[in-house]
Amino acid sequence: MKISVDDYKKFVTNKLLEHDVTEEHAGIVTEILLYADSRGIPSHGVLRLPHYIERLKHQSIKSNPSLQYNRINDVITQLNGDDGLGHIVAKYAMDEAISIAHKKGIGVVSVHKTSHSGAVGYYAKMAAEKNMIGLIFTQADALVAPYGGKEAYLGANPIAFGSPTGKDFPMVLDISTSKVSFGKVMIEKEKGNKIPKDWGLNDQGVATDNPSDVVALQPMGGAKGYGLAILVDILSGVLAGTNTGRDIEPMYKDLTKPRNLGQFFLVINPSFFGTSESFINSMASMVSSLQGCAPQEGFDKVSIPGERANLKEKDVLENGIEITDEQYEFLIS
Ligand SMILES: NC(=O)c1ccc[n+]([C@@H]2O[C@H](COP(=O)([O-])OP(=O)(O)OC[C@H]3O[C@@H](n4cnc5c(N)ncnc54)[C@H](O)[C@@H]3O)[C@@H](O)[C@H]2O)c1
Repeated sequence: MKISVDDYKKFVTNKLLEHDVTEEHAGIVTEILLYADSRGIPSHGVLRLPHYIERLKHQSIKSNPSLQYNRINDVITQLNGDDGLGHIVAKYAMDEAISIAHKKGIGVVSVHKTSHSGAVGYYAKMAAEKNMIGLIFTQADALVAPYGGKEAYLGANPIAFGSPTGKDFPMVLDISTSKVSFGKVMIEKEKGNKIPKDWGLNDQGVATDNPSDVVALQPMGGAKGYGLAILVDILSGVLAGTNTGRDIEPMYKDLTKPRNLGQFFLVINPSFFGTSESFINSMASMVSSLQGCAPQEGFDKVSIPGERANLKEKDVLENGIEITDEQYEFLIS
């Protein structure tokens, strides 16, 4: 079913307010869930709200966290998220990284004691909207087998980057480092379809085409994605002093235990490498050249990361947002 964006915002915010989240924080979480639901990432939108609410009830996510900033030097801040909602901690971490980069050219924020922060492209887009390049690395609990391994060890460990383009949309790449998301396996299961054998492994560590048997995903791009997933765990976890790999507290098991996740934010201010104008002009010319590349058979055009999502978002903001009946029932309950 479709609901208006205003209703979506009202329902989601009210749910969070009911669980003692402040008005400001509820507004931030609502905006980031809306970002996911309006840009074709429903796996990270309101679908996850019941889970966040359960954790707020169990206090493994604090409704009113007290974030602590440890400013190590001019460019590095360590941020203790105090087990708050991951969206809030990540939004403030990105604000801090942007503010540092504004003054110093580079801003680095290492986060610990946070929780699931949703579609991390949102934070990359924040930097792009300030005419800066933003990179975010986020660890997650074990779901992906290491290249050549039989069992899940690494998380889907997403990487996102954003950059201004000089066009009417920022560039935003936002990808997990698994071959596909677990959500895509679930969708094929619901449709009764088989899946390609290179998506996942069964409990014997053997490649399977039965979506019901998948207990671990394969890494994106084989050994290359596996290596990137390790990089994510190093930057977001090892540097921040949090658990890594399969020692990370799972999202869905014991809801009474805080997850103590780590995250890493890097913002680069192009105006320290030349002028902001020259950077944006070069980006605009790169984007135009890419868009001008001849499409392969089966493609209508060559798209820029974030371009299609931007069009989808415009449509949703004008015409309303698609949610499931079950989600609607939850929101109005
Ligand atoms: N917070 C967490 O712990 C966590 C963990 C895992 C995943 N996630 C989120 O899951 C979401 C989905 O990740 P995913 O790996 O399934 O994404 P995906 O495979 O759908 O890839 C999405 C990216 O690919 C780009 N893309 C897709 N088609 C394109 C095209 N035709 N041309 C150019 N670019 C194109 C898009 O710009 C987009 O940034 C992300 O938002 C990610 O942040 C979050």
